[in-house]
Amino acid sequence: MFEPYVQEVLSLKGDMNKGRAIFKTNCAECHGLQADGSVGPSLHQVHRHKFKIKLIHQVTSGKTPPMPKFKPSFQ
Ligand code: HEC
Repeated sequence: MFEPYVQEVLSLKGDMNKGRAIFKTNCAECHGLQADGSVGPSLHQVHRHKFKIKLIHQVTSGKTPPMPKFKPSFQ
């Protein structure tokens, strides 16, 4: 099965406001404030080629430099 972190993330309900705040602080610098791409690619269509588990791995693994490894906590 998946690692506990992934399971926990999958069990959560999305929260747009928290997500936006986390994105602004940690991701917008590379992916753009509207996630339309800058140093990192645009994320607008990313759900078409990467699904939940792959997306979580992309963000938490740190395997695609220069994108760092993130493990946001749930508080
Ligand atoms: C230092 C710059 C940087 C930061 C900060 C960053 N990224 Fe990235 N991100 C990248 C780059 C560069 C890629 C392309 C990596 C590759 O595919 O080799 C990428 C790829 C991705 C992808 C996959 C895109 C695709 O089309 O497959 C996702 C999803 C993603 N980032 C989400 C995030 C999220 C969410 C955050 C914040 C938690 C974040 N990134 C922060 C640079 C960054």
